[in-house]
Amino acid sequence: MFLIVVDGRHLPKSVPGPPVMNFIQRVRRKVFRPRETIEGYENPELVETIFRKTINYKPAGDWPLVAGLRTVLDFGGGAGRHYKLACQLSPDIRWAVVETPAMVRRAKELATDQLMFFVQIGKAADWLGSVDLIYSNGAIQYVPDAFKTIRDLCAVGAETMVWHRVPISDGEPRREVQTSYLSDNGPGQSLALKEKLVTYERQWISEQGFVQAHEGYRIVERGPDAGEQGTQQFKFSSC
Ligand SMILES: C[S@@+](CC[C@H](N)C(=O)[O-])C[C@H]1O[C@@H](n2cnc3c(N)ncnc32)[C@H](O)[C@@H]1O
Repeated sequence: MFLIVVDGRHLPKSVPGPPVMNFIQRVRRKVFRPRETIEGYENPELVETIFRKTINYKPAGDWPLVAGLRTVLDFGGGAGRHYKLACQLSPDIRWAVVETPAMVRRAKELATDQLMFFVQIGKAADWLGSVDLIYSNGAIQYVPDAFKTIRDLCAVGAETMVWHRVPISDGEPRREVQTSYLSDNGPGQSLALKEKLVTYERQWISEQGFVQAHEGYRIVERGPDAGEQGTQQFKFSSC
């Protein structure tokens, strides 16, 4: 296992990231390292932080990917942060987030007739009817079985699948413990909260396995993802 610290910028390229830390903030982090560590994406404090930051989040900008779309399944979409931008650009869009049980329980307070939260991919797809786009940003590396999840997503039969911030390994797949600051999780401005460290296990996914799991799809775009160092982005179209 490796220990790394990341700054939690988890955004589609069209969305500005959290403010870059100034010198004093960086020094504070070095000197006052949080004493407490919480674990996993289902930790209630982490879920609550992401939920509250998403409510406060006011995205702006363009996102051509969602222009004109009617239905999107967002795998690992948190409390709906990507929907907040998408609905500004496509006001009638319907958006199904597939998330952990803990996030779905908390975020369903934000559900509307256009935004819904599901634990199961099949239920999300049923609610959407036909699915124009499957979108996933920085989430597939946290699921217990990434290839099964990809196959389940392919079975939905969306025209297009777009992946952002996928950690692709150079060789064999490997698992590591990722560490971030609690305040860096979730979109937009930090909340005034007691700082903690958060750990979660993530997988570096083999390129061959990732591509092969996309049964019935072909790659139309791929490249490094500027949203997170070392990760890749992909766009697949159905064959
Ligand atoms: C780095 S965050 C990315 C959130 C969002 N997509 C974004 O770009 O800000 C990873 C997300 O994956 C979710 N996640 C982790 N395990 C999951 C699972 N088994 N199924 C669905 N979502 C999961 C987490 O709850 C979290 O919201």
